Amino acid sequence: MEHHIRFDERACALVLLDQRLLPGEESYFYCRSTDDVIEALRTMVVRGAPAIGVTAAWGAVLALAPLAASPTGGWAADLEERLGALADARPTAVNLTWAVKHMRALWKQSGDASAAELLGIWKDEAARMQAEDIAVNRRMGFHGAGLLDSGDTVLTHCNAGALATAGFGTALGVVYAAVEQGKHIRVIADETRPLLQGARLTAYELKAAGVPVTVACDNACGLLMRRGLVNKVIVGADRIAANGDVANKIGTYGVALLARAHSIPFYVAAPLSSIDPATPDGERIPIERRPDDEVTRIGCARISPEDVPVFNFAFDVTPAELIAGIITERGVLAPPYTKSIAALFADSCRPIRQL
Ligand code: MRU
Repeated sequence: MEHHIRFDERACALVLLDQRLLPGEESYFYCRSTDDVIEALRTMVVRGAPAIGVTAAWGAVLALAPLAASPTGGWAADLEERLGALADARPTAVNLTWAVKHMRALWKQSGDASAAELLGIWKDEAARMQAEDIAVNRRMGFHGAGLLDSGDTVLTHCNAGALATAGFGTALGVVYAAVEQGKHIRVIADETRPLLQGARLTAYELKAAGVPVTVACDNACGLLMRRGLVNKVIVGADRIAANGDVANKIGTYGVALLARAHSIPFYVAAPLSSIDPATPDGERIPIERRPDDEVTRIGCARISPEDVPVFNFAFDVTPAELIAGIITERGVLAPPYTKSIAALFADSCRPIRQL
């Protein structure tokens, strides 16, 4: 599944598979402006940290395209304003600001390039970032697959698969890579309230890939672990702090605590673009709060009384001490993460010790 994010050159539009409608309907959402991209990000047409990063890179292209087409000068301030709005679309996944910063840095490096010249540079770069994300996920899969044994049942939370990336996935990429190596792996997908990324998206893509998958209510996790039905947990990440604390979909922290209580290894799979060495620990990661009606309604039906307040935190933070390893495209990071993450960013070429 690699065509869920596609730039249509002729229409100058970013075409996104509308993940809100899956698995019932495969329909596409056309972004012709930065505002459309911001809407797609906010309303979760596209979601998942690496997919958000790639979408933001194309969003920068769409911010620049009308300015490059207009003969008037003075486009820099306009572009800066649009990039700022794009970077603010969602707060937790660091890949969004990472991608916008990357495009901005390229702009600054391009000296006195015209808007039209910069547009060409940015289109090439967005396409490269999209292809690179898939390559990174395959490398991550290769490193992570060594942690899985044939016969394992892996529990995952939310969707950290092909749909959450440019393709192949992070946590699910590890499963796909193990399956490609001939291992028999089963997956339990937590349904992931309130937006059901596990039941809708993880089950959809694993089924399509022929990987056996069972959907479970989020609150079945303890029972499943106690009954010995789960061997390993692998989740993705929206942001990893310098000390290894991991922000991921709300509910991940509870899964990690249950895994610790049942002596089940809990792994995180994430690319370097999801690690934020500038954020010292999980307390400093901004946690997105989303609209109440995502919790108070299922489809058109209201499920809680009017005027009762709601907590709709979209993410939580799993402390580093609950994490057995962080699977990256450069190898599997071992605790203590303050050290292994610092080493990773200090030397971008040296391979990382395997667990
Ligand atoms: O709110 P979402 O659906 O964007 O949240 C996504 C997650 O929390 C994923 O688990 C995470 O981004 C990892 S994606 C490879």
